[in-house]
Amino acid sequence: MKILITGGAGCLGSNFIERYFPLGHEICVIENFATGKKEVILPQKGLSLIEGSIVDEALVNRVFDDFQPTHVIHSAAAYKDPNNWAEDAATNVIGTILIAKAALRLGVKRFINFQTALCYGRPQELPIPATHPTEPFSSYGISKTAGEAYLMQSGLPVVSLRLANICGPRLAIGPIPTFYKRLKAGQNCFCSDSVRDFLDMEDFLDLMDLVLQDDAATGVFNVSTGEGHSILDVFKTVANYLGMEAPEVPVVGVGADDVAQVVLDPSATELAFGWKAKKGFQETIFKQLKWYDQYGINDIFSHLAAPAINKN
Ligand SMILES: NC(=O)c1ccc[n+]([C@@H]2O[C@H](COP(=O)([O-])OP(=O)(O)OC[C@H]3O[C@@H](n4cnc5c(N)ncnc54)[C@H](O)[C@@H]3O)[C@@H](O)[C@H]2O)c1
Repeated sequence: MKILITGGAGCLGSNFIERYFPLGHEICVIENFATGKKEVILPQKGLSLIEGSIVDEALVNRVFDDFQPTHVIHSAAAYKDPNNWAEDAATNVIGTILIAKAALRLGVKRFINFQTALCYGRPQELPIPATHPTEPFSSYGISKTAGEAYLMQSGLPVVSLRLANICGPRLAIGPIPTFYKRLKAGQNCFCSDSVRDFLDMEDFLDLMDLVLQDDAATGVFNVSTGEGHSILDVFKTVANYLGMEAPEVPVVGVGADDVAQVVLDPSATELAFGWKAKKGFQETIFKQLKWYDQYGINDIFSHLAAPAINKN
């Protein structure tokens, strides 16, 4: 495959490179380092890095013409400032359209997109099926949902994977890195009164292998274990891993831009791809923490506004 990866220095993007480059696939990355890290991509024969934005139409067209990808993994997304709606819309809508138009022109075989579970808004049922209406209400959710909608009517062979919280190397968002960093530093923590599903990177990459096959299904699919766990469970698991008695912590209601319970129903995905998550909750969290032990954590990003609670 000749795989064009947008956002290749991000958490998922860098894991795709580590998975597919050693297998002999040629990879080209477009990356503006908004949240991605320069040091995770070492350009070499067969792995090129184009520094720039997917919102730059001339650059996008030039990269497609020069590289001639057969497959696109569209992993770039903007979310780091919940108030920067224009940046979210530029990258997640306009950038997605530009990548889609170039991919159509080149006639790529597969186009893989990633969607946030926030596309469902406040769910009417749990676990949330992929047929649930999309009712996003945050800048990240709205812009990602618009981008996905353009893709789904583009005529491209698109698979849009609506993701649970994927845990793996370089995860820099959400409760796991936050609790690990704060507990280790002796800082106070709080938990939001919410439930999420957590999926291990290896399980996710096993699905990616199947999704990238030319004759595999197209459409919108949920990707998760289907099992919900409270953020308090995550906190206790992190404390347990660190060998601490979990301290009493405030459990606060979710902010106006958040959703209390997000558990995705993966059954249609399991059927379509013959895939099922294998790793359990504790194994997934412990693996993540072991990675932090080895490599540390730098910045932690969030697409949510900070709740009104003293965090120190
Ligand atoms: N990781 C998850 O659990 C999760 C869950 C739901 C959805 N997603 C989606 O998966 C994709 C990858 O997410 P991630 O967790 O790797 O995030 P990430 O922030 O680690 O990666 C996104 C990458 O896109 C780059 N980027 C942002 N704007 C860009 C632009 N205009 N041009 C070029 N590059 C740009 C960033 O620098 C970053 O490297 C995103 O589409 C995200 O919405 C991820």
